[in-house]
Amino acid sequence: MDFKEHIIDKLQELTGLEREAIEKAVETPPDEKLGDLAFPCFPLAKVMRKAPPMIAQELKEQLSSDEAISQVDAVGGYLNFFYNKALFISDTVKAAREAGEDWGKSEMGSGKTVLVEYSSPNIAKPFHIGHLFSTAVGNSLARIYKFLGYDVQSLNHLGDWGTQFGKLISAYKRWGDAKVIEKDPINELLKIYVKFHEEAEKDPSLEDEAREYFKKLEDGDAETTELWKYFKDQSLVEFKRVYDMLGVSFDSYNGEAFYSDKMDEVVDILRDKGILTESEGAQVVDLSDMNMPPCIILKSDGATIYATRDIAAALYRHRTYNFDKNIYVVGLPQSLHFKQIFESMKRAGWEWSKDCVHVGFGLVKLPGKSMSTRHGDVVFLEDVLNESIEKTRSIIENNGANVDDIDAVSKKIGIGAILYTFLKNSREKDIVFSWDTMLDFDGESAPYCMYGYARGKSILRRAEGMDYSNADLTKAVSDDAYTLVKLINSFGDAVADAADKNEPFYVNRYVTSLVKAFNKFYNTNPIMRDDVDEETKKARLAIVDATCTVIKSALGLLGIEVVESM
Ligand code: ARG
Repeated sequence: MDFKEHIIDKLQELTGLEREAIEKAVETPPDEKLGDLAFPCFPLAKVMRKAPPMIAQELKEQLSSDEAISQVDAVGGYLNFFYNKALFISDTVKAAREAGEDWGKSEMGSGKTVLVEYSSPNIAKPFHIGHLFSTAVGNSLARIYKFLGYDVQSLNHLGDWGTQFGKLISAYKRWGDAKVIEKDPINELLKIYVKFHEEAEKDPSLEDEAREYFKKLEDGDAETTELWKYFKDQSLVEFKRVYDMLGVSFDSYNGEAFYSDKMDEVVDILRDKGILTESEGAQVVDLSDMNMPPCIILKSDGATIYATRDIAAALYRHRTYNFDKNIYVVGLPQSLHFKQIFESMKRAGWEWSKDCVHVGFGLVKLPGKSMSTRHGDVVFLEDVLNESIEKTRSIIENNGANVDDIDAVSKKIGIGAILYTFLKNSREKDIVFSWDTMLDFDGESAPYCMYGYARGKSILRRAEGMDYSNADLTKAVSDDAYTLVKLINSFGDAVADAADKNEPFYVNRYVTSLVKAFNKFYNTNPIMRDDVDEETKKARLAIVDATCTVIKSALGLLGIEVVESM
Protein backbone atom coordinates (compact mmCIF):
# COMPACT_ATOMS: atom_id res chain seq x y z
CA MET A 1 0.00 0.00 0.00
CA ASP A 2 1.15 3.51 -0.72
CA PHE A 3 0.49 5.27 2.57
CA LYS A 4 0.55 8.74 1.16
CA GLU A 5 -1.88 7.84 -1.61
CA HIS A 6 -4.08 6.11 0.91
CA ILE A 7 -4.30 9.19 3.11
CA ILE A 8 -4.96 11.39 0.10
CA ASP A 9 -7.82 9.05 -0.86
CA LYS A 10 -9.27 9.36 2.63
CA LEU A 11 -8.98 13.13 2.64
CA GLN A 12 -10.66 13.31 -0.71
CA GLU A 13 -13.52 11.17 0.54
CA LEU A 14 -13.98 13.31 3.64
CA THR A 15 -13.49 16.79 2.21
CA GLY A 16 -14.75 16.46 -1.34
CA LEU A 17 -11.76 18.50 -2.53
CA GLU A 18 -10.20 17.85 -5.94
CA ARG A 19 -7.57 15.14 -5.70
CA GLU A 20 -4.98 17.35 -7.32
CA ALA A 21 -5.54 20.09 -4.77
CA ILE A 22 -4.91 17.65 -1.94
CA GLU A 23 -1.83 16.23 -3.62
CA LYS A 24 -0.45 19.72 -3.89
CA ALA A 25 -1.31 20.64 -0.34
CA VAL A 26 0.10 17.65 1.55
CA GLU A 27 3.64 18.05 2.74
CA THR A 28 6.35 16.17 4.55
CA PRO A 29 6.88 17.75 7.97
CA PRO A 30 10.35 19.21 8.44
CA ASP A 31 10.93 17.04 11.49
CA GLU A 32 10.04 13.36 11.71
CA LYS A 33 8.79 13.94 15.25
CA LEU A 34 5.93 15.98 13.82
CA GLY A 35 4.66 13.09 11.75
CA ASP A 36 5.07 11.45 8.36
CA LEU A 37 2.65 13.59 6.42
CA ALA A 38 0.91 16.89 7.06
CA PHE A 39 -2.20 18.39 5.56
CA PRO A 40 -2.87 22.10 6.00
CA CYS A 41 -6.61 22.70 6.33
CA PHE A 42 -6.49 26.37 5.37
CA PRO A 43 -7.77 25.90 1.79
CA LEU A 44 -10.92 24.33 3.29
CA ALA A 45 -11.80 27.29 5.47
CA LYS A 46 -13.59 29.15 2.71
CA VAL A 47 -15.71 26.29 1.42
CA MET A 48 -16.56 24.93 4.83
CA ARG A 49 -16.97 28.35 6.45
CA LYS A 50 -15.09 27.20 9.49
CA ALA A 51 -11.78 28.03 11.10
CA PRO A 52 -8.94 25.73 10.02
CA PRO A 53 -8.18 24.44 13.56
CA MET A 54 -11.79 23.35 13.89
CA ILE A 55 -11.74 21.59 10.55
CA ALA A 56 -8.52 19.84 11.55
CA GLN A 57 -10.14 18.68 14.76
CA GLU A 58 -13.19 17.28 12.99
CA LEU A 59 -11.15 15.46 10.36
CA LYS A 60 -8.93 14.04 13.06
CA GLU A 61 -11.87 12.32 14.69
CA GLN A 62 -13.05 10.86 11.41
CA LEU A 63 -9.60 9.51 10.58
CA SER A 64 -8.49 8.07 13.90
CA SER A 65 -9.76 4.57 13.29
CA ASP A 66 -7.87 4.03 10.03
CA GLU A 67 -5.60 0.99 10.15
CA ALA A 68 -2.79 2.64 8.21
CA ILE A 69 -2.62 5.55 10.60
CA SER A 70 -1.32 5.13 14.12
CA GLN A 71 -1.94 8.69 15.23
CA VAL A 72 -3.39 11.94 13.88
CA ASP A 73 -2.69 15.25 15.56
CA ALA A 74 -4.58 18.44 14.92
CA VAL A 75 -2.10 21.24 15.47
CA GLY A 76 -3.12 24.76 14.57
CA GLY A 77 -4.72 24.39 11.18
CA TYR A 78 -2.72 21.32 10.38
CA LEU A 79 -3.41 17.63 10.44
CA ASN A 80 -0.29 15.62 11.18
CA PHE A 81 -0.34 11.95 10.32
CA PHE A 82 1.79 9.23 11.82
CA TYR A 83 1.80 6.04 9.81
CA ASN A 84 1.30 2.67 11.38
CA LYS A 85 4.98 1.77 11.64
CA ALA A 86 4.62 -2.00 11.72
CA LEU A 87 2.36 -1.98 8.72
CA PHE A 88 4.55 0.49 6.87
CA ILE A 89 7.71 -1.49 7.46
CA SER A 90 6.09 -4.81 6.51
CA ASP A 91 4.46 -3.44 3.41
CA THR A 92 7.49 -1.58 2.13
CA VAL A 93 10.10 -4.25 2.79
CA LYS A 94 7.92 -6.91 1.28
CA ALA A 95 7.23 -4.85 -1.82
CA ALA A 96 10.88 -3.82 -2.20
CA ARG A 97 12.10 -7.39 -1.91
CA GLU A 98 9.53 -8.60 -4.39
CA ALA A 99 10.51 -5.92 -6.88
CA GLY A 100 14.25 -6.49 -6.37
CA GLU A 101 16.25 -4.49 -8.88
CA ASP A 102 13.03 -3.04 -10.27
CA TRP A 103 12.26 -1.25 -7.01
CA GLY A 104 11.93 2.48 -7.66
CA LYS A 105 11.49 2.06 -11.39
CA SER A 106 8.55 3.66 -13.09
CA GLU A 107 6.75 3.76 -16.38
CA MET A 108 6.61 7.53 -16.56
CA GLY A 109 8.90 7.52 -19.59
CA SER A 110 7.27 4.75 -21.51
CA GLY A 111 6.93 5.58 -25.19
CA LYS A 112 9.11 8.68 -24.82
CA THR A 113 12.59 9.24 -26.15
CA VAL A 114 15.25 11.25 -24.36
CA LEU A 115 18.56 12.07 -26.00
CA VAL A 116 21.45 12.68 -23.66
CA GLU A 117 24.45 14.21 -25.35
CA TYR A 118 27.53 14.15 -23.16
CA SER A 119 31.28 13.85 -22.97
CA SER A 120 31.89 15.14 -26.53
CA PRO A 121 35.67 15.56 -26.37
CA ASN A 122 37.69 17.01 -29.22
CA ILE A 123 39.79 14.67 -31.29
CA ALA A 124 43.53 15.12 -31.19
CA LYS A 125 43.08 17.06 -27.95
CA PRO A 126 43.30 15.77 -24.41
CA PHE A 127 40.18 14.42 -22.82
CA HIS A 128 40.20 16.88 -19.97
CA ILE A 129 38.60 17.10 -16.59
CA GLY A 130 35.66 19.17 -17.90
CA HIS A 131 34.82 16.37 -20.30
CA LEU A 132 34.93 14.01 -17.35
CA PHE A 133 32.40 16.18 -15.52
CA SER A 134 30.15 16.02 -18.57
CA THR A 135 30.68 12.27 -18.80
CA ALA A 136 29.79 11.70 -15.15
CA VAL A 137 26.63 13.81 -15.28
CA GLY A 138 25.52 12.59 -18.70
CA ASN A 139 26.09 8.94 -17.97
CA SER A 140 24.13 9.27 -14.74
CA LEU A 141 21.25 11.10 -16.41
CA ALA A 142 21.10 8.49 -19.14
CA ARG A 143 20.83 5.77 -16.50
CA ILE A 144 18.25 7.72 -14.52
CA TYR A 145 15.99 8.26 -17.52
CA LYS A 146 16.30 4.61 -18.50
CA PHE A 147 15.30 3.62 -14.99
CA LEU A 148 12.18 5.72 -15.39
CA GLY A 149 11.19 3.86 -18.54
CA TYR A 150 12.39 6.32 -21.18
CA ASP A 151 13.98 5.19 -24.39
CA VAL A 152 17.40 6.79 -23.97
CA GLN A 153 19.99 7.48 -26.64
CA SER A 154 23.46 8.42 -25.44
CA LEU A 155 25.18 10.67 -27.94
CA ASN A 156 28.80 11.70 -28.16
CA HIS A 157 29.05 14.85 -30.26
CA LEU A 158 32.76 14.55 -30.98
CA GLY A 159 34.64 17.72 -31.79
CA ASP A 160 36.07 16.40 -35.03
CA TRP A 161 35.54 19.25 -37.48
CA GLY A 162 36.64 22.81 -37.88
CA THR A 163 39.51 24.95 -39.09
CA GLN A 164 41.81 23.55 -36.41
CA PHE A 165 42.05 20.36 -38.46
CA GLY A 166 43.61 22.35 -41.29
CA LYS A 167 46.25 23.43 -38.77
CA LEU A 168 46.82 19.93 -37.51
CA ILE A 169 47.19 18.56 -41.03
CA SER A 170 49.69 21.26 -41.86
CA ALA A 171 51.59 20.53 -38.64
CA TYR A 172 51.54 16.81 -39.29
CA LYS A 173 52.88 17.20 -42.79
CA ARG A 174 55.66 19.38 -41.49
CA TRP A 175 56.69 17.64 -38.29
CA GLY A 176 54.57 14.53 -37.87
CA ASP A 177 56.14 11.14 -37.33
CA ALA A 178 53.68 8.27 -37.38
CA LYS A 179 55.91 6.07 -35.24
CA VAL A 180 56.20 8.61 -32.47
CA ILE A 181 52.53 9.46 -32.65
CA GLU A 182 51.34 5.89 -32.35
CA LYS A 183 53.07 5.55 -29.00
CA ASP A 184 51.14 8.37 -27.36
CA PRO A 185 48.79 9.76 -30.02
CA ILE A 186 46.92 12.58 -28.36
CA ASN A 187 49.92 13.93 -26.54
CA GLU A 188 52.08 13.90 -29.65
CA LEU A 189 49.38 15.44 -31.84
CA LEU A 190 48.94 18.11 -29.23
CA LYS A 191 52.67 18.83 -29.32
CA ILE A 192 52.78 19.42 -33.06
CA TYR A 193 49.57 21.44 -32.86
CA VAL A 194 51.17 23.71 -30.25
CA LYS A 195 54.28 23.95 -32.41
CA PHE A 196 52.11 25.04 -35.33
CA HIS A 197 50.88 28.02 -33.33
CA GLU A 198 54.38 28.99 -32.28
CA GLU A 199 55.67 28.80 -35.84
CA ALA A 200 52.64 30.58 -37.28
CA GLU A 201 53.43 33.57 -35.13
CA LYS A 202 56.76 33.90 -36.85
CA ASP A 203 55.42 32.98 -40.26
CA PRO A 204 51.76 33.92 -40.81
CA SER A 205 51.69 32.16 -44.19
CA LEU A 206 51.21 28.95 -42.22
CA GLU A 207 47.70 30.10 -41.44
CA ASP A 208 46.92 30.32 -45.15
CA GLU A 209 48.32 26.87 -45.66
CA ALA A 210 46.11 25.55 -42.86
CA ARG A 211 43.04 27.24 -44.34
CA GLU A 212 43.78 25.55 -47.65
CA TYR A 213 44.09 22.18 -46.00
CA PHE A 214 40.78 22.61 -44.26
CA LYS A 215 39.20 23.67 -47.54
CA LYS A 216 40.60 20.49 -49.10
CA LEU A 217 39.19 18.47 -46.26
CA GLU A 218 35.79 20.05 -46.70
CA ASP A 219 35.93 19.28 -50.42
CA GLY A 220 36.59 15.63 -49.68
CA ASP A 221 40.21 15.51 -50.87
CA ALA A 222 41.52 11.97 -50.39
CA GLU A 223 44.86 12.62 -48.69
CA THR A 224 43.64 15.12 -46.13
CA THR A 225 40.58 13.00 -45.41
CA GLU A 226 42.84 10.04 -44.81
CA LEU A 227 44.89 12.04 -42.29
CA TRP A 228 41.82 13.39 -40.56
CA LYS A 229 40.49 9.86 -40.23
CA TYR A 230 43.79 8.71 -38.80
CA PHE A 231 43.68 11.45 -36.12
CA LYS A 232 40.14 10.50 -35.29
CA ASP A 233 40.81 6.76 -35.04
CA GLN A 234 43.86 7.30 -32.86
CA SER A 235 41.94 9.60 -30.57
CA LEU A 236 39.00 7.26 -30.30
CA VAL A 237 41.25 4.45 -29.14
CA GLU A 238 42.30 6.61 -26.20
CA PHE A 239 38.81 7.91 -25.47
CA LYS A 240 37.38 4.43 -25.51
CA ARG A 241 39.96 3.24 -23.06
CA VAL A 242 38.73 5.89 -20.64
CA TYR A 243 35.07 5.06 -21.34
CA ASP A 244 35.78 1.41 -20.63
CA MET A 245 37.35 2.30 -17.32
CA LEU A 246 34.30 4.37 -16.45
CA GLY A 247 31.79 1.81 -17.71
CA VAL A 248 30.34 4.31 -20.15
CA SER A 249 29.08 3.59 -23.65
CA PHE A 250 27.39 5.53 -26.42
CA ASP A 251 24.74 4.77 -28.98
CA SER A 252 26.22 7.24 -31.40
CA TYR A 253 29.58 8.88 -31.99
CA ASN A 254 28.28 11.19 -34.70
CA GLY A 255 30.48 14.21 -34.21
CA GLU A 256 30.57 17.59 -35.83
CA ALA A 257 32.02 16.18 -39.06
CA PHE A 258 28.93 14.04 -39.52
CA TYR A 259 26.92 17.21 -40.06
CA SER A 260 29.28 18.80 -42.56
CA ASP A 261 27.05 17.81 -45.49
CA LYS A 262 23.86 18.71 -43.62
CA MET A 263 24.46 22.40 -43.16
CA ASP A 264 23.48 23.76 -46.56
CA GLU A 265 19.92 22.80 -45.81
CA VAL A 266 20.04 24.65 -42.51
CA VAL A 267 21.38 27.77 -44.17
CA ASP A 268 18.62 27.53 -46.78
CA ILE A 269 15.91 27.13 -44.16
CA LEU A 270 17.14 30.08 -42.13
CA ARG A 271 17.40 32.17 -45.28
CA ASP A 272 13.90 31.19 -46.46
CA LYS A 273 12.50 32.12 -43.06
CA GLY A 274 14.07 35.53 -43.59
CA ILE A 275 16.04 35.45 -40.36
CA LEU A 276 19.54 35.56 -41.86
CA THR A 277 21.03 39.01 -42.05
CA GLU A 278 24.44 40.22 -43.05
CA SER A 279 26.81 41.57 -40.48
CA GLU A 280 30.39 42.49 -41.33
CA GLY A 281 30.31 40.07 -44.25
CA ALA A 282 29.00 37.21 -42.15
CA GLN A 283 25.51 35.70 -42.26
CA VAL A 284 23.94 35.84 -38.82
CA VAL A 285 20.67 35.51 -36.94
CA ASP A 286 20.24 38.85 -35.26
CA LEU A 287 19.27 38.43 -31.61
CA SER A 288 19.75 41.99 -30.43
CA ASP A 289 16.09 42.23 -29.39
CA MET A 290 16.93 39.61 -26.78
CA ASN A 291 20.11 41.33 -25.74
CA MET A 292 22.23 38.59 -27.18
CA PRO A 293 25.04 38.79 -29.66
CA PRO A 294 24.12 37.50 -33.13
CA CYS A 295 24.28 33.79 -33.82
CA ILE A 296 26.84 33.45 -36.60
CA ILE A 297 25.82 30.92 -39.25
CA LEU A 298 28.28 31.60 -42.07
CA LYS A 299 31.59 33.36 -41.55
CA SER A 300 32.65 36.09 -43.96
CA ASP A 301 34.64 33.54 -45.95
CA GLY A 302 31.50 31.41 -46.29
CA ALA A 303 32.66 28.75 -43.84
CA THR A 304 30.18 27.25 -41.41
CA ILE A 305 30.97 27.12 -37.74
CA TYR A 306 30.23 25.37 -34.46
CA ALA A 307 26.75 26.88 -34.17
CA THR A 308 25.77 25.88 -37.71
CA ARG A 309 26.85 22.32 -37.03
CA ASP A 310 24.87 22.28 -33.80
CA ILE A 311 21.71 23.50 -35.52
CA ALA A 312 22.14 20.86 -38.25
CA ALA A 313 22.66 18.25 -35.52
CA ALA A 314 19.49 19.29 -33.71
CA LEU A 315 17.44 19.03 -36.91
CA TYR A 316 18.96 15.63 -37.65
CA ARG A 317 18.17 14.41 -34.14
CA HIS A 318 14.60 15.64 -34.41
CA ARG A 319 14.13 13.74 -37.67
CA THR A 320 15.97 10.62 -36.58
CA TYR A 321 14.64 10.21 -33.06
CA ASN A 322 11.57 12.42 -32.82
CA PHE A 323 12.72 13.11 -29.27
CA ASP A 324 10.67 14.28 -26.31
CA LYS A 325 13.77 15.82 -24.81
CA ASN A 326 17.18 16.61 -26.29
CA ILE A 327 19.67 17.20 -23.49
CA TYR A 328 23.12 18.74 -23.88
CA VAL A 329 25.44 18.13 -20.96
CA VAL A 330 28.00 20.84 -21.63
CA GLY A 331 29.86 23.25 -19.32
CA LEU A 332 28.27 26.53 -18.28
CA PRO A 333 30.74 28.64 -20.30
CA GLN A 334 28.75 27.52 -23.36
CA SER A 335 25.40 28.77 -22.01
CA LEU A 336 25.25 31.67 -24.40
CA HIS A 337 25.98 29.44 -27.37
CA PHE A 338 23.03 27.23 -26.51
CA LYS A 339 20.72 30.17 -25.90
CA GLN A 340 21.65 31.50 -29.32
CA ILE A 341 21.13 28.28 -31.22
CA PHE A 342 17.88 27.40 -29.41
CA GLU A 343 16.52 30.86 -30.13
CA SER A 344 17.59 30.67 -33.78
CA MET A 345 15.87 27.30 -34.07
CA LYS A 346 12.72 28.72 -32.55
CA ARG A 347 12.76 31.53 -35.08
CA ALA A 348 13.18 28.96 -37.85
CA GLY A 349 9.72 27.80 -36.77
CA TRP A 350 10.89 24.55 -35.20
CA GLU A 351 8.34 24.16 -32.47
CA TRP A 352 10.30 21.24 -30.98
CA SER A 353 13.22 23.53 -30.13
CA LYS A 354 11.47 24.03 -26.77
CA ASP A 355 12.44 20.44 -25.93
CA CYS A 356 16.15 21.13 -26.26
CA VAL A 357 17.81 21.68 -22.90
CA HIS A 358 21.28 22.78 -21.98
CA VAL A 359 22.31 21.01 -18.78
CA GLY A 360 25.31 23.01 -17.65
CA PHE A 361 27.92 22.37 -15.02
CA GLY A 362 30.59 24.31 -13.16
CA LEU A 363 34.35 24.37 -13.24
CA VAL A 364 36.72 21.84 -11.78
CA LYS A 365 39.53 23.22 -9.69
CA LEU A 366 42.58 21.11 -9.21
CA PRO A 367 44.33 22.38 -6.13
CA GLY A 368 48.04 22.96 -6.52
CA LYS A 369 50.16 20.13 -7.71
CA SER A 370 47.95 17.43 -6.32
CA MET A 371 47.48 15.80 -9.70
CA SER A 372 50.37 13.97 -11.21
CA THR A 373 50.81 14.87 -14.85
CA ARG A 374 52.73 12.65 -17.13
CA HIS A 375 52.31 15.36 -19.73
CA GLY A 376 53.60 18.61 -18.32
CA ASP A 377 50.84 21.07 -17.55
CA VAL A 378 47.94 19.23 -19.11
CA VAL A 379 46.01 17.00 -16.76
CA PHE A 380 45.20 13.81 -18.59
CA LEU A 381 42.10 12.18 -17.41
CA GLU A 382 43.42 8.69 -17.58
CA ASP A 383 46.18 9.73 -15.17
CA VAL A 384 43.62 11.07 -12.73
CA LEU A 385 41.66 7.82 -12.84
CA ASN A 386 44.79 5.73 -12.38
CA GLU A 387 45.96 7.90 -9.51
CA SER A 388 42.64 7.44 -7.77
CA ILE A 389 42.87 3.68 -8.21
CA GLU A 390 46.43 3.62 -6.86
CA LYS A 391 45.55 5.74 -3.84
CA THR A 392 42.60 3.52 -3.09
CA ARG A 393 44.80 0.47 -3.24
CA SER A 394 47.22 1.90 -0.67
CA ILE A 395 44.37 2.87 1.63
CA ILE A 396 43.02 -0.67 1.48
CA GLU A 397 46.48 -2.12 2.04
CA ASN A 398 47.16 0.19 4.97
CA ASN A 399 43.82 -0.71 6.51
CA GLY A 400 44.91 -4.30 6.36
CA ALA A 401 41.55 -5.24 4.89
CA ASN A 402 41.17 -8.75 3.62
CA VAL A 403 40.08 -8.28 0.03
CA ASP A 404 39.97 -11.10 -2.50
CA ASP A 405 40.74 -9.26 -5.68
CA ILE A 406 42.43 -6.02 -4.71
CA ASP A 407 42.88 -4.92 -8.34
CA ALA A 408 39.21 -5.11 -9.17
CA VAL A 409 38.14 -3.62 -5.85
CA SER A 410 40.57 -0.68 -6.00
CA LYS A 411 39.42 0.02 -9.52
CA LYS A 412 35.74 0.12 -8.66
CA ILE A 413 36.28 2.24 -5.58
CA GLY A 414 38.83 4.56 -7.18
CA ILE A 415 36.61 5.26 -10.16
CA GLY A 416 33.48 5.37 -8.05
CA ALA A 417 35.13 7.98 -5.83
CA ILE A 418 35.68 10.28 -8.78
CA LEU A 419 32.19 9.85 -10.21
CA TYR A 420 30.66 10.45 -6.79
CA THR A 421 32.60 13.70 -6.44
CA PHE A 422 31.16 15.06 -9.68
CA LEU A 423 27.63 14.13 -8.68
CA LYS A 424 27.76 15.22 -5.08
CA ASN A 425 26.44 18.75 -5.41
CA SER A 426 24.19 20.67 -7.70
CA ARG A 427 26.02 20.45 -11.02
CA GLU A 428 26.30 24.20 -11.49
CA LYS A 429 28.57 24.45 -8.47
CA ASP A 430 32.31 24.47 -9.03
CA ILE A 431 34.22 21.48 -7.76
CA VAL A 432 37.47 21.50 -5.87
CA PHE A 433 39.17 18.17 -6.31
CA SER A 434 40.52 16.81 -3.06
CA TRP A 435 41.81 13.29 -2.67
CA ASP A 436 41.24 13.43 1.07
CA THR A 437 37.53 14.11 0.69
CA MET A 438 37.09 11.85 -2.28
CA LEU A 439 38.68 8.85 -0.62
CA ASP A 440 37.47 9.50 2.91
CA PHE A 441 35.98 6.15 3.86
CA ASP A 442 34.08 7.77 6.74
CA GLY A 443 32.87 10.90 5.01
CA GLU A 444 30.33 11.54 2.29
CA SER A 445 32.05 9.60 -0.43
CA ALA A 446 31.74 6.65 -2.76
CA PRO A 447 33.92 4.46 -0.51
CA TYR A 448 31.62 5.24 2.41
CA CYS A 449 28.51 4.22 0.47
CA MET A 450 30.20 1.20 -1.05
CA TYR A 451 31.36 0.13 2.37
CA GLY A 452 27.77 0.29 3.63
CA TYR A 453 26.76 -2.08 0.87
CA ALA A 454 29.67 -4.47 1.50
CA ARG A 455 28.88 -4.44 5.19
CA GLY A 456 25.27 -5.39 4.49
CA LYS A 457 26.37 -8.17 2.18
CA SER A 458 28.72 -9.55 4.78
CA ILE A 459 25.86 -9.72 7.28
CA LEU A 460 23.77 -11.57 4.70
CA ARG A 461 26.62 -13.97 4.01
CA ARG A 462 26.81 -14.79 7.69
CA ALA A 463 23.12 -15.63 7.59
CA GLU A 464 23.49 -17.98 4.68
CA GLY A 465 21.10 -20.89 4.95
CA MET A 466 18.55 -18.94 6.95
CA ASP A 467 15.25 -18.45 5.18
CA TYR A 468 13.92 -14.98 5.85
CA SER A 469 11.71 -14.73 2.79
CA ASN A 470 8.54 -14.80 4.86
CA ALA A 471 9.92 -12.96 7.85
CA ASP A 472 7.39 -11.29 10.13
CA LEU A 473 8.53 -7.70 9.74
CA THR A 474 6.51 -6.50 12.70
CA LYS A 475 9.33 -8.01 14.76
CA ALA A 476 11.73 -5.43 13.35
CA VAL A 477 9.86 -2.29 14.38
CA SER A 478 12.13 0.34 15.88
CA ASP A 479 12.77 4.01 15.27
CA ASP A 480 15.94 3.39 13.32
CA ALA A 481 14.34 0.62 11.27
CA TYR A 482 11.48 2.95 10.50
CA THR A 483 13.76 5.78 9.38
CA LEU A 484 15.64 3.37 7.14
CA VAL A 485 12.54 1.81 5.62
CA LYS A 486 11.07 5.22 4.95
CA LEU A 487 14.13 5.97 2.89
CA ILE A 488 13.80 2.68 1.04
CA ASN A 489 10.26 3.72 0.32
CA SER A 490 11.24 7.07 -1.18
CA PHE A 491 13.85 5.81 -3.64
CA GLY A 492 11.59 6.29 -6.65
CA ASP A 493 10.86 9.88 -5.61
CA ALA A 494 14.56 10.71 -5.46
CA VAL A 495 15.08 9.31 -8.95
CA ALA A 496 12.09 11.21 -10.32
CA ASP A 497 13.37 14.44 -8.73
CA ALA A 498 16.77 13.88 -10.32
CA ALA A 499 15.19 13.50 -13.75
CA ASP A 500 12.85 16.42 -13.24
CA LYS A 501 15.74 18.79 -12.49
CA ASN A 502 18.38 16.93 -14.52
CA GLU A 503 20.34 16.77 -11.28
CA PRO A 504 21.91 13.41 -10.41
CA PHE A 505 22.85 14.80 -7.01
CA TYR A 506 19.34 13.99 -5.77
CA VAL A 507 20.23 10.34 -6.17
CA ASN A 508 23.67 10.91 -4.70
CA ARG A 509 22.27 12.62 -1.64
CA TYR A 510 19.64 9.94 -1.37
CA VAL A 511 22.05 7.02 -1.34
CA THR A 512 24.31 8.76 1.15
CA SER A 513 21.38 9.27 3.55
CA LEU A 514 20.30 5.69 3.00
CA VAL A 515 23.72 4.37 3.96
CA LYS A 516 23.86 6.66 7.00
CA ALA A 517 20.48 5.38 8.14
CA PHE A 518 21.58 1.83 7.48
CA ASN A 519 24.72 2.22 9.61
CA LYS A 520 22.64 3.58 12.42
CA PHE A 521 20.13 0.76 12.01
CA TYR A 522 22.58 -2.08 12.33
CA ASN A 523 24.37 -0.42 15.20
CA THR A 524 21.21 -0.10 17.26
CA ASN A 525 19.48 -3.22 15.95
CA PRO A 526 21.94 -6.11 16.30
CA ILE A 527 21.31 -8.75 13.71
CA MET A 528 23.39 -11.90 13.91
CA ARG A 529 24.11 -11.65 17.63
CA ASP A 530 23.33 -14.74 19.72
CA ASP A 531 20.99 -12.92 22.06
CA VAL A 532 18.71 -11.91 19.19
CA ASP A 533 15.81 -14.31 18.77
CA GLU A 534 15.32 -16.09 15.47
CA GLU A 535 12.21 -14.21 14.34
CA THR A 536 13.75 -10.81 15.00
CA LYS A 537 16.91 -11.87 13.20
CA LYS A 538 14.92 -12.84 10.14
CA ALA A 539 12.95 -9.62 10.13
CA ARG A 540 16.13 -7.53 10.38
CA LEU A 541 17.83 -9.59 7.70
CA ALA A 542 14.95 -8.88 5.34
CA ILE A 543 15.54 -5.17 5.92
CA VAL A 544 19.28 -5.56 5.30
CA ASP A 545 18.55 -7.41 2.10
CA ALA A 546 16.15 -4.76 0.80
CA THR A 547 18.61 -2.01 1.74
CA CYS A 548 21.49 -3.64 -0.14
CA THR A 549 19.42 -3.91 -3.28
CA VAL A 550 18.50 -0.24 -3.13
CA ILE A 551 22.08 0.92 -2.41
CA LYS A 552 23.25 -1.07 -5.41
CA SER A 553 20.53 0.36 -7.68
CA ALA A 554 21.10 3.91 -6.52
CA LEU A 555 24.87 3.76 -6.90
CA GLY A 556 24.33 2.13 -10.28
CA LEU A 557 22.37 5.21 -11.35
CA LEU A 558 25.48 7.26 -10.59
CA GLY A 559 27.58 4.90 -12.69
CA ILE A 560 29.20 3.43 -9.56
CA GLU A 561 29.60 -0.33 -9.27
CA VAL A 562 29.43 -1.99 -5.88
CA VAL A 563 31.86 -4.53 -4.46
CA GLU A 564 30.71 -7.47 -2.37
CA SER A 565 33.38 -7.05 0.25
CA MET A 566 36.00 -4.44 1.03
N1 ARG B 1 33.50 19.49 -28.15
C1 ARG B 1 33.02 20.57 -27.36
C2 ARG B 1 34.06 20.97 -26.33
O1 ARG B 1 34.91 20.20 -25.99
C3 ARG B 1 31.75 20.23 -26.64
C4 ARG B 1 30.60 19.90 -27.54
C5 ARG B 1 29.32 20.19 -26.86
N2 ARG B 1 28.17 19.81 -27.59
C6 ARG B 1 27.56 20.48 -28.55
N3 ARG B 1 26.53 19.95 -29.13
N4 ARG B 1 27.97 21.67 -28.87
O2 ARG B 1 33.99 22.08 -25.84
